[in-house]
Amino acid sequence: MERVLVTGGAGYVGSVCAARLLAHGYSVDIVDDLSDGHVDAIPPGATLHRLDIGNRDGLSNLLSSKKYEVVFHFAAKALIPESVTNPGVFFDVNVARGIAMLEVLRAHGIRKFVFSSTAAVYGNPFSALISEDHPKQPVNSYGESKLMFEQILRWHTTAYDWSVVVFRYFNASGGTHNWGERHDPETHIIPILLQVASQRRPWFEVYGTDYPTADGTCLRDYVHVNDIAEAHILAIGKVVSPGFHVYNIGTGVSHSVHEVWRTAQEVTGKHIPKREAARRTGDPAVLCANPDRLKQDLGWWPVESDLREIVLGAWEWEQALCEQAEVRARTV
Ligand SMILES: NC(=O)c1ccc[n+]([C@@H]2O[C@H](COP(=O)([O-])OP(=O)(O)OC[C@H]3O[C@@H](n4cnc5c(N)ncnc54)[C@H](O)[C@@H]3O)[C@@H](O)[C@H]2O)c1
Repeated sequence: MERVLVTGGAGYVGSVCAARLLAHGYSVDIVDDLSDGHVDAIPPGATLHRLDIGNRDGLSNLLSSKKYEVVFHFAAKALIPESVTNPGVFFDVNVARGIAMLEVLRAHGIRKFVFSSTAAVYGNPFSALISEDHPKQPVNSYGESKLMFEQILRWHTTAYDWSVVVFRYFNASGGTHNWGERHDPETHIIPILLQVASQRRPWFEVYGTDYPTADGTCLRDYVHVNDIAEAHILAIGKVVSPGFHVYNIGTGVSHSVHEVWRTAQEVTGKHIPKREAARRTGDPAVLCANPDRLKQDLGWWPVESDLREIVLGAWEWEQALCEQAEVRARTV
């Protein structure tokens, strides 16, 4: 059985991808320091190694004990607002510790690598649909740190014959009764709206209503995490020979903040109070993928990324979290 090393597998996207790998018959080891992840998010069958990716000795011991076919790298600092106020930690984790990890992988002869990058590498787009060769001008340190790591990986393909797939996700979203987004603080629109619907927050703040879009609010491309996981499975077939391959993962359809708010009200049947707030620094008006390369090259298709379905699944997860909190409160 092929073994895959998944960094950040206790987090939102990494845990779903780990579950998908297991379902496809892969053996999965997870490296996560649990700084932002959750032990109960790790799918049954995966083995957790509680390690910082920058811990060279710890990683080296692990790689001496087991052979891995490919590494999926999800571990990162990933909250954009924090990256604006505290860039140092983003370059530390996403770049410096990432390099330490790459050096250990290289010493152990690993050459197949799949990297979770982001649409934030593009900054403010010049075109309605963003293709992979669009200029890269990040407007926050998160996007900059991811772009730097992409470039570091590209040098690994030219100098060390690595096979690298870089996925630039647009807005990863969705859930089920059993899994979903759990960031702290939560900065993503769908879980925030649903927390208001379940009365865990008093209102929803719309950051900017004066953007040059039809209703004045930002437009984003929401892609279901299951569709992201499927792209990762397809990537395993791509990293068979040396090369550097970059793909957007998005649907090519964008939705405004108001549209997502309306959908959340329809799905939950709840009134979600909203307030207008100032724009957030580092938020481009529109981010929408051109996913043609991923479709043509890997045969990928977004089968679960309809906005209503995404919000429906995320609502199941929000309700499950509320039930868990109630049970905990009763047992204290
Ligand atoms: N969620 C999105 O919408 C989105 C969009 C674009 C890109 N991405 C990228 O996808 C990846 C996963 O995102 P997510 O939303 O699941 O984030 P997440 O915060 O839920 O998961 C990240 C995981 O990495 C772990 N981690 C952080 N620093 C670590 C370190 N130094 N050593 C070991 N583990 C560490 C955390 O504990 C956490 O479990 C990230 O690389 C992120 O940049 C996410």
